[in-house]
Amino acid sequence: MSRNNLFSREYLTRRDFLKGSAAAAASVAVFGAQRAQAEEPAQKSLEEPIRAGIIGTGAQGTFLLSNAVKVPGVEIVACCDIYEPHLEKSLILAPDAEPYQDYRRLLDRKDIQAVIIATPLHLHAQMSIDAMDAGKHVFCEKMMAYSIEQAKAMARKQRETGKVLQLGHQRRVNSTYRHAYRMLNVDKVCGRVTQVRAQWHRNGSWRRAVPDKSLEKQLNWRLYREYSQGLMAELGSHQIDAVNWFLNALPVSVMASGGIDYWKDGRTVYDNISVIYEYPGGIRCTYTCITTNEHEAYYEMYMGDEGTLVVTPEKGLLFREPKAEQLVWAPMAHKDESKGKEAIVLDAGATRRAREGTGQEEIRTDASQDDYYVELEEFFQSVRTGKKPASDPESALQSCVTCLMANNAAQTGRKIQFNEKMFQI
Ligand SMILES: NC(=O)c1ccc[n+]([C@@H]2O[C@H](COP(=O)([O-])OP(=O)(O)OC[C@H]3O[C@@H](n4cnc5c(N)ncnc54)[C@H](O)[C@@H]3O)[C@@H](O)[C@H]2O)c1
Repeated sequence: MSRNNLFSREYLTRRDFLKGSAAAAASVAVFGAQRAQAEEPAQKSLEEPIRAGIIGTGAQGTFLLSNAVKVPGVEIVACCDIYEPHLEKSLILAPDAEPYQDYRRLLDRKDIQAVIIATPLHLHAQMSIDAMDAGKHVFCEKMMAYSIEQAKAMARKQRETGKVLQLGHQRRVNSTYRHAYRMLNVDKVCGRVTQVRAQWHRNGSWRRAVPDKSLEKQLNWRLYREYSQGLMAELGSHQIDAVNWFLNALPVSVMASGGIDYWKDGRTVYDNISVIYEYPGGIRCTYTCITTNEHEAYYEMYMGDEGTLVVTPEKGLLFREPKAEQLVWAPMAHKDESKGKEAIVLDAGATRRAREGTGQEEIRTDASQDDYYVELEEFFQSVRTGKKPASDPESALQSCVTCLMANNAAQTGRKIQFNEKMFQI
């Protein structure tokens, strides 16, 4: 298929697609392992199955799809991508799905109730809005949208249509995060929080190999401003969402500095950025995102006058300040050592057992489940029940505004004051 055809809008039958594709046989072998996973028998649901489609089956779309096919009571009946190799891959994971290259043809299908959108950032708003207009519930990847106006339009469309709109901030369903949130805000294990430090540090260009130069911007969209909002959108939005959530607050101002200082490869988004947010009550959050050193990788750290909580999706650690009183349950807690200091390891399961019968909200403790699976399970539950998902349009808009204003501060060299209107839908 020629590149021009990749952008054509015709509907392909599954048979035509596979017959015409020489690469399909090869990719069956390459993706054999995922296929075996996808073919694990799904549990039977007594309820009517939800028919769903996916738009954008690149790196993240494939992860989501491999999890979506395992959610009981869900049938993935359509896959859409403009890039043939990615579309092929999706059909291996969802063998009964019909392939599409034009997402609007997928949205035309009346039997589809929900769509998963995992396309480049600049397409999130248009596709989500079109999907809700077509009567579909939407799970859309983060960051919510390319611009604040687009994100607000998505949130307004959700209110107008009453459809579920969930955004892909999977930390919201992670058991360690949910546990850490309660430790910080209910048990107040850090005392009064005064500072936050967060980072996502990688050592790599973020660049993808392209089979043909003409595909550079299509495949490396993340590196170009016309499609991408760079590190703050791609990595920061997860963590800033978590900081807004954990502090139960929105920042009042932001200062930032960023640049293209190492990867001089034609990209137009920063390869490093340093940000200072001020939150109410004099709490400052410093955030850095870099691509030249991966020491200590990623975390959010909440510092209070009685302790420090370090949270990642894989692990949560609590360090008490030397002057703080010992927590009554500390002697029973699982301990770890980090840089010569003893830390209490956050164990969501143990805390849940301790709270059983107290009527407090249950924390999902099955840490063996992929967060992507859990968020999709939550999405399809919301489709069935109408219950608001944890990563809802309101919180996702807040994360989007918080991140975009950091970019703005870095680009203009100005300290930016947030105001209520910026966050209003
Ligand atoms: N939640 C997470 O942890 C996480 C992780 C990675 C990426 N993401 C998000 O997922 C989204 C996709 O990222 P990715 O890394 O998978 O990018 P990608 O480039 O690998 O995949 C995007 C796919 O969308 C397809 N596409 C582009 N235009 C299209 C159109 N008009 N119609 C249909 N398909 C189209 C592309 O061909 C590609 O296959 C981004 O928003 C990114 O921020 C989220």
